[in-house]
Amino acid sequence: MKGFTLWFTGLSGSGKSTLARNIEETLLERGMNVEVLDGDEIRENLSKGLTFSKEDRDINIRRIGYVAKLLSRNGVAAITAAISPYKAIRDEVRESHDRFVEVYLEAPIDVLTERDTKGLYKKALAGEIKNFTGVSDPYEAPENPEIIVNTATETVEESANKILRTLELMQYVPGEAVGAEYSEEEEEKIKARLKDLGYI
Ligand code: ADX
Repeated sequence: MKGFTLWFTGLSGSGKSTLARNIEETLLERGMNVEVLDGDEIRENLSKGLTFSKEDRDINIRRIGYVAKLLSRNGVAAITAAISPYKAIRDEVRESHDRFVEVYLEAPIDVLTERDTKGLYKKALAGEIKNFTGVSDPYEAPENPEIIVNTATETVEESANKILRTLELMQYVPGEAVGAEYSEEEEEKIKARLKDLGYI
């Protein structure tokens, strides 16, 4: 089986790690080799010591992109879950790949601030964390991602099914998504998007 990179991008707390782990499980069940490159984990090892300045974020993302490229060209489904706030670097990573699928996790900042799963938004808003993405640092949303999921309005299963169905239609992943919640209308939307992007 050929590999690919599934690149999640979105604000802190938007659900990147949760979705990455969910998709990982399904792909493993379908017999694929999978690795998750999770932002928080990468910053504990590969990128230990890097800050959240633009320069260091760019270094972080280039490293993750490089490892994802090595994995994906060797048959692995490489799933990345870092904020990756800058469009130019994401596009640079895309260019280094044969098979690159960008997933934008859309979720309004007020919903994320309300949820505040790690308690970081509160601190950022109080000025205790500088350069916090979406609060005091920029986030550049992708213009033409292969997949957009809205994690404020969709369940994890709904978002995961959307991603899986797209990967199946691109023929990057074998098998059928079993999702009772999956509607014909959704499928048509996915097909229209892939047609627009020239995949099918
Ligand atoms: S990235 O910008 O370089 O892609 P990355 O995904 O590795 O970011 O790390 C983001 C995580 O670091 C957040 O989910 C949060 O837990 C933590 N974090 C700590 N400080 C910041 C900050 N200033 N901005 C964003 N995230 C931060």
